[in-house]
Amino acid sequence: MSDAPHSDVPQPTLLADYRPYPFTLDHVSLTFRLAPKGTRVCAKLSLAPKDGPADLVLDGEDLRLISIALDGTALDPATLTLTDRQLTLPAAALPAGPFTLETEVEIDPEANTALEGLYLSGGMFCTQCEAEGFRHITYYPDRPDVMARFDVRIESDMPVLLSNGNPVAQGAGWAEWRDPWPKPAYLFALVAGNLVALRDDFITASGRTVDLAIWVRPGDEDRCAYAMDALKRSMAWDESTYGREYDLDVFNIVAVDDFNMGAMENKGLNIFNAKLVLASPETATDTDYERIESVIAHEYFHNWTGNRITCRDWFQLCLKEGLTVFRDQQFSADERSAAVRRIEDVLALRARQFREDAGPLAHPVRPESYVEINNFYTATVYEKGAEVIGMLRRLVGPEGYRRALDLYFDRHDGQAATIEDWLKVFEDACDRDLTQFKRWYTEAGTPRLHVTEDWDAEAGRFTLEFTQETAATPGQPVKGARVIPVELGLLGPNGDEVQPSTLIEITEPRQSAVFEGLSARPVPSILRGFSAPVILERETTQAARAFLFAHDTDPFNRWEAGRNLARTALMALARGAATAPDPELIAAYGPLLRDAETDPAFAALCLRLPGEDEIAAALHGAGHTPDPAEIHAARARLARAIAQAHEEALAALYIRMKDDGPYSPDAGPAGRRALRLACLGLLNRLDNGARAQALFAEAGNMTESLSALACLIETNKAAGALAEFRDRWAGERLVMDKWFLVQMLHAAPDRAAQEAAHLAALPEFDWKNPNRFRSLMGGLSANHAGFHHASGAGYRFYADWLIRMDAMNPQITARMSTAFETWPRYDAGRQALARAELQRIAATEGLSRDTGEMVARLLA
Ligand code: ARG
Ligand code: ZN
Repeated sequence: MSDAPHSDVPQPTLLADYRPYPFTLDHVSLTFRLAPKGTRVCAKLSLAPKDGPADLVLDGEDLRLISIALDGTALDPATLTLTDRQLTLPAAALPAGPFTLETEVEIDPEANTALEGLYLSGGMFCTQCEAEGFRHITYYPDRPDVMARFDVRIESDMPVLLSNGNPVAQGAGWAEWRDPWPKPAYLFALVAGNLVALRDDFITASGRTVDLAIWVRPGDEDRCAYAMDALKRSMAWDESTYGREYDLDVFNIVAVDDFNMGAMENKGLNIFNAKLVLASPETATDTDYERIESVIAHEYFHNWTGNRITCRDWFQLCLKEGLTVFRDQQFSADERSAAVRRIEDVLALRARQFREDAGPLAHPVRPESYVEINNFYTATVYEKGAEVIGMLRRLVGPEGYRRALDLYFDRHDGQAATIEDWLKVFEDACDRDLTQFKRWYTEAGTPRLHVTEDWDAEAGRFTLEFTQETAATPGQPVKGARVIPVELGLLGPNGDEVQPSTLIEITEPRQSAVFEGLSARPVPSILRGFSAPVILERETTQAARAFLFAHDTDPFNRWEAGRNLARTALMALARGAATAPDPELIAAYGPLLRDAETDPAFAALCLRLPGEDEIAAALHGAGHTPDPAEIHAARARLARAIAQAHEEALAALYIRMKDDGPYSPDAGPAGRRALRLACLGLLNRLDNGARAQALFAEAGNMTESLSALACLIETNKAAGALAEFRDRWAGERLVMDKWFLVQMLHAAPDRAAQEAAHLAALPEFDWKNPNRFRSLMGGLSANHAGFHHASGAGYRFYADWLIRMDAMNPQITARMSTAFETWPRYDAGRQALARAELQRIAATEGLSRDTGEMVARLLA
């Protein structure tokens, strides 16, 4: 075999370079002989050239080629070219018509610490193939536009052997699976282990019975009921809301302990991070339950949006991810409170995506270039991708949206599609030109929508003038005007709606909306329901915000008004522009608390103050340099002032919201707990941990235990509770993750890095487990004032661990490096410290492509 030279400088892959694969691949047969160190994989590919002769290029990494045969005859090794990334057979060596190619390779699952391809987790074999993991399993055209039917045979002495599709046959030490639906390799999955199942079934709209199973390690089977319930509700919802029925006889979910991300939608065999499956009241929080519900739904919904219709290439990732996030958000909104869910989604969008869009990692929803595709599973592709679909739905209306989706499924079922295909179904079904709208997919950056008001009392005319602007982002200096759907209403002086909600479509850089025939100056409620992912800049007063906080009929904007009020006050405090918390703001919590019981979950959200990173971003956006220590102090001060002013009401609510019934994760009881714990968080600033101490002792569920623990850490009273918690949960991985996380999130900023070092030295810090690593590191980076400490100790500790982890698991490392994405916001001293750490990482010998690309972008 000739060894072609391998270049060390990774070349970017470009959207513009897309070429169809020159072969069809109808069918693939795989045989696995599983062994921890030497697993053998035999693959038989049925190929045919599409339009004349072409070289056959197959992807393959970390494979040891044992044999290769063409149409049953062993190939002379001299005919092929093998690099550490590809195997090439020249066109001249291939038949003009259909042929089969058989390979046998050996792989080493035990040595696979990157958790990509086939690997071992807690003694079981499992796979992760999206985006490019399959090439670590066998030689194959590992790209999403090559879709084949798979037959899989697994040979292993593990008791449970699973793959995609339907079971065909099984015996002692083997099992065979057949997936009737053509699929790209990234949807391949295999699991072999000592597993037990929670079983159930689902009868589809057309009357077929689907056998459902959730596979877990023995002992965990009593923690699967909620996930199973969420799965069945998801299956019913997709039928009733999108007309989408499930298409196999079985649906399997497997929970694994070591997993790089949340979960994976492999056809008929979803693989999940155990933390997104397993839940009991004692071990999981209300937030965990909510996430389990939405991720189970998300992966299930991929069966149609992702699997039946997949992506032509990885630039189109948002085609499946944006749409599937949008669908899971709709599902959760239907299953729980729509307003609360919308607020939570927007909070997450701003915290992660707006932050990304404002920094060195900004990229369009559909990027045009990447070095490592795993670095583009981002908040922009997922969450902004979902927002863009929400805007489309608003613009064409629910019926138009349904028509477009029906057309999408009709037209593209079985295909690997593009964003152009997606927009075209809307154009065709709704008779609309989406040329300008497409900028949401191709241009990065969050538009700023500036609004000024003009009131002409004599004419009774109210005018809103909108101007939009999007700042330059890396590689995109100039931006065009976006289509911005602005939902708005006008409130009269007594709070009545004098102009009911209406949709204004902004398309110009500057555009106005005029309202006539008004008898008094209205207060506008703009961007209701957060109808577009923009930064709304209003020239308005704290009094107008307080008015909306009290009266807006749109729950999102009511919450938003309170949030703006609080953020503005915090910004002023943090930069020393105010000497005391804003009395208008403090007063505004009075009516909220009086009325809190009508919607406790909503009230809880209103009581939550903007986080420190959000305040830093807002200060930076307004042209100030944020000081993390001052921000931390300002937030503590405001919380204390609110608690002092409303102590009685908070204390009363804390008692009234106590639930004596059995724990239920449903939205109602979870909302009451959220309100109760929000009150606790404020009261904790006054009672010095007294209530938290009592709650920790009596808590009957993890939601309360963990909140109490957080309060105790903040009041420096946690030593006993932390030790007790550690003893009690020593054997529970998912709970111990929380123990690490809560300590990092609430550590005093001056001691955060020291605390992190202490925790990292504990025997329980199993850093090779992604969840454990993320708990500690993610907790530190979310501790804003701790991570961005002026000493640089936070940066240093973090960089040390990124360097260490990179050799083990590049994907996790690259992902975690985003903690540094806001470094250009801060003062020169912090910038120099952060830059030095990034440079140190960049200079690491043998740094992975994944982390190399991220650090280069962070430093650009
Ligand atoms: N498709 C999966 C999901 O969103 C995520 C896969 C992420 N893969 C990766 N390499 N980052 O459900
Ligand atoms: Zn997804």
